[in-house]
Amino acid sequence: MSDNQATLNDGSKTTNMPIRSGSIGPDVIDIRKLYAETGKFTYDPGFTSTASCDSALTYIDGDEGVLLHRGYPIGQLAEHSSFMEVSYLLLNGELPSADELAQFSRTITRHTMVHEQLSVFYRGFRRDAHPMAIMCGVVGALSAFYHDSTDIADPEQRKISAHRLIAKMPTIAAMAYKYSVGQPFVYPRNDLSYTGNFLRMTFAVPAEEYEVNPVVERALDRIFILHADHEQNASTSTVRLAGSSGANPFACIAAGIACLWGPAHGGANEAALNMLKEIGTPDRIPHYIARAKDKNDPFRLMGFGHRVYKNYDPRATVMQKTVREVFDSLKVTDPLFETALRLEELALSDPYFIEKKLFPNVDFYSGIILSAIGFPTTMFTALFALARTVGWVAQWNEMISDPGQKIGRPRQLYTGPVQRDYVPVSQR
Ligand code: SDX
Repeated sequence: MSDNQATLNDGSKTTNMPIRSGSIGPDVIDIRKLYAETGKFTYDPGFTSTASCDSALTYIDGDEGVLLHRGYPIGQLAEHSSFMEVSYLLLNGELPSADELAQFSRTITRHTMVHEQLSVFYRGFRRDAHPMAIMCGVVGALSAFYHDSTDIADPEQRKISAHRLIAKMPTIAAMAYKYSVGQPFVYPRNDLSYTGNFLRMTFAVPAEEYEVNPVVERALDRIFILHADHEQNASTSTVRLAGSSGANPFACIAAGIACLWGPAHGGANEAALNMLKEIGTPDRIPHYIARAKDKNDPFRLMGFGHRVYKNYDPRATVMQKTVREVFDSLKVTDPLFETALRLEELALSDPYFIEKKLFPNVDFYSGIILSAIGFPTTMFTALFALARTVGWVAQWNEMISDPGQKIGRPRQLYTGPVQRDYVPVSQR
């Protein structure tokens, strides 16, 4: 870290603040002493220019469209790795040996069952409850079952709760789907891969054997890799803020799930496919592009744009490639894929999108594959939450392990009434 200084002159005094450098990426101006020295806050709603923490997990270069997990490019991980291996990498910092990966996979596999009483929670929801509503409730309830792994000061308990969360999310998500279609829950099997187990728990029925399709298994595992972690996005920041108070990891992940649900964030994959269905055929695209550009129309192209990427989201590149591979292998087509490709082509040649640097993001193509595999659109964000859980727990653990960690407590620019005296109702 090279240290030099930034000087702020606020009209009454000059303040010097250290500038810190990371291993790569923008330097930061350390303003922690600013309020004590100037009596002034910085102001950054939406945190467009704010680094909230140090982190060694994921690096994004939005201008170049680069995404690294512990230094490894997402394209290489998607091509050559597995979700279990990427999970180990995010949690431990290095790629595992064959034995380490086998041991980690075995550990995760042996935590995939949930407490039998957890299934009672589902009965309290209406059958048409959105799976994300169920995920928020059921994951938060896990803390009622696992008191033996909620002492966050104990690294061993933090590791066990991380393994439990990563292992049980597929089971909980699959149970949410089964409940919505009125089919019996399917127990996990220890002889299947992480992703194969999830496919079987979701789509198997007692009436017949279920064979995991290896093409689908590989494609979904790659989709999980693409969603594993993404720096300090809204839901990860939510998990970090919840964890900064000392809340247990299950409650923190439930908070992350709630934040991810929003259509501006993880809910965009469901919204993007619904948008493509509404557009329907390519001849209707110009009308929707015009709406997206109209300041008076709240409509936005879902799956387009990103706070950080001002270039093509590298995950969208892999996702589009995976659509082609899955369709070719399964001999299926979907006219919505053609509509999506044409929409991308027209948007990326339109000055509005060019000037604002709006490109397809991870959510633009994911729904097309998930739909082809058989998931209803209401399950798309639940799958995003399933995959992002490893990123959330790795970021949470990184924060809790930091000896300098303290509760997050932003301030504000107050714009309300100055002090005034109470007026009795008889005088109002
Ligand atoms: C994810 O942060 C992460 O890393 C998130 C994520 C992860 O892995 O965790 O990558 C996952 O959430 C991806 C994003 C999914 N959301 C969507 O696809 C929803 C549609 N996109 C937008 O709502 C928007 O692009 C955001 C929310 C993603 C980013 O918003 P910003 O950074 O706050 O930018 P902005 O809203 O200020 O937009 C800048 C300009 C605005 O125009 P002006 O006011 O400057 O004239 O671009 C316009 C916006 O109106 N704009 C769009 C647009 N996105 C931005 N116009 C039309 N269609 C869009 N999709």
